[in-house]
Amino acid sequence: MKLGGEIGYRLLSKVISSRLPNGQPVFKSTLPSTLDLRKETDQEQFSEKFGMAFLQEVQGRRVVDFGCGKGFQAVALAELGAEHVVGIDINRDHLDLARSHAAARGVSGKCRFLDGVADREDVKSLREMVDVIYTIDAFEHIVETGSILEEMWRLLAPGGEVYVWFGPVWWHPRGVHMGYLKPIPWTHLIFSEESIMRVRDEYRMDGKRKYSEINLSQMTVGKFRQFLAESPFHVAAFEAIPIHHCQWLARIPRIGEFFTSVVRCRLIKPREQIDE
Ligand SMILES: C[S@@+](CC[C@H](N)C(=O)[O-])C[C@H]1O[C@@H](n2cnc3c(N)ncnc32)[C@H](O)[C@@H]1O
Repeated sequence: MKLGGEIGYRLLSKVISSRLPNGQPVFKSTLPSTLDLRKETDQEQFSEKFGMAFLQEVQGRRVVDFGCGKGFQAVALAELGAEHVVGIDINRDHLDLARSHAAARGVSGKCRFLDGVADREDVKSLREMVDVIYTIDAFEHIVETGSILEEMWRLLAPGGEVYVWFGPVWWHPRGVHMGYLKPIPWTHLIFSEESIMRVRDEYRMDGKRKYSEINLSQMTVGKFRQFLAESPFHVAAFEAIPIHHCQWLARIPRIGEFFTSVVRCRLIKPREQIDE
């Protein structure tokens, strides 16, 4: 049972506005004004997320960045030795920015950015042409999880691999991904979707009333495991990484997921289908 209705909305609205400086959240600009890629080109970022071997693995390979956003990592990977990187996203503004980044860094010839909806045919033409797919912080935003896993399967050449990193997962204290709700950890588990989205609308004013309308997939570790179990992929590695200093809490059955931060896994499309 969650707090909802008029009472839930009013209570949440009051608590949150009283905790915000000047009663208003400060939103980060969604589009950076400079082409400063220093942080994003950091090789350690890839190694930290996908292991030391990842950068070796992508040398001279055809790579897809699924949910590439502004393309920082895709551009970085083209610079770091991938033969070709295709970034796929559904946010046109971010894709435009990604193209400018690639041009500014002189890797437009090795780096292409496609709209998963508008450029559907171009995406389809990559069928079985991709060696490695990676996806960073996207599965908690990808509402069509099952069909995107199918898409990844279609794009990969036999033997190809998917590297996944996403979080915070839904049951994380800040799994709802709204910075201004920070004062109350697990807000989304205490208050109803309707109350939270009404409070959100006070600040965002875009009339959106469902998590799915703002690309929140409510992805828990358990749900993601289930999607993988239903997919044809071989799960070569799977790790639910605890919140810092909460390792012991994350190990407790049933409640451990409340103290889990991100999911990291590696999926393989086997070279041959084995008939059972
Ligand atoms: C938090 S951003 C992460 C961007 C980038 N990977 C990074 O780490 O900076 C999540 C991205 O997933 C994208 N996304 C959501 N649903 C998608 C879908 N169905 N297909 C492709 N991208 C999607 C969003 O547009 C957004 O750019």
